[in-house]
Amino acid sequence: MAATVIDGKQVAQQIRDALKKEVAQLQQKYGITPGLAAVLVGENPASKVYVNMKAKACEETGIYSQKIHLPADTPQEKLIELIHNLNADTRIHGILVQLPLPDHLDQHKVLQEVSPNKDVDGFHPINLGKLLSAKFWEELPLFVPCTPAGCIKLIESTGTQIEGKHAVVVGRSVIVGKPVAMLLLAKQATVTIAHSRTKNLKEVCRQADILVVAAGRPKLVTADMIKPGAVVIDVGVNRVGEKQLVGDVDFEAAKEVAGFITPVPGGVGPMTIAMLLKNTVESAKRTVGA
Ligand code: GUN
Repeated sequence: MAATVIDGKQVAQQIRDALKKEVAQLQQKYGITPGLAAVLVGENPASKVYVNMKAKACEETGIYSQKIHLPADTPQEKLIELIHNLNADTRIHGILVQLPLPDHLDQHKVLQEVSPNKDVDGFHPINLGKLLSAKFWEELPLFVPCTPAGCIKLIESTGTQIEGKHAVVVGRSVIVGKPVAMLLLAKQATVTIAHSRTKNLKEVCRQADILVVAAGRPKLVTADMIKPGAVVIDVGVNRVGEKQLVGDVDFEAAKEVAGFITPVPGGVGPMTIAMLLKNTVESAKRTVGA
């Protein structure tokens, strides 16, 4: 039987609708408007698209947004100075520095300068460290990275219980692979992290009740690597040719084997933005004790 396709757009829209109401209530009750600053350095075309989408989503939700576009050759001290100003700006509750940064900038050093209290991407070492030390879901840090958090929401939207399941994550990036593995652990799954050097990737993937693929390789996961009935979350966004986007999973074949599967586009992508808005609203709420 063909898999149920998980509609990420719909799940994301439900979250955004709820946030819109929450933002209106915050304004009414506390006179506060959540604010997000999105910092883009350079001309990476995909990053430009993402930052514009994030700003537009803020607008639709009633969140104040500032888009700050710096030239590709911006010195690191200038970028850090800007971040410090945003840390001190009371209109801003969330700061995101769009990645990747140009090569001359040290990503680690830059991300450390974002106040952990405004780190809506969850990339500050304090927030990432707390993610590692959290044993259970209730102990999570102030902010959890958006794409991993979105993956968990999508898995839960299927009604699948995560506790006790074998989850396999393909990919070990700081943005997706590692944090999503930690979140699955916090939900009490048994977690395997596979990556480009994993031997017998097919056998490892076939053990997964829940398979999260964030490897950045088009159609890496084929139908024969999927356990029948598994929940398959495809984080990959790979551009092939001029216009077409494909995931890391061979969707057409995989959907004949999986129980649930996310499409690309329209699966994980919309959730990343919804979780960013959610983190921004949570951050604003914290400042007024709501
Ligand atoms: N680049 C790819 N994914 C992300 C993300 O979630 N946040 C930021 N800031 N940059 C990214």
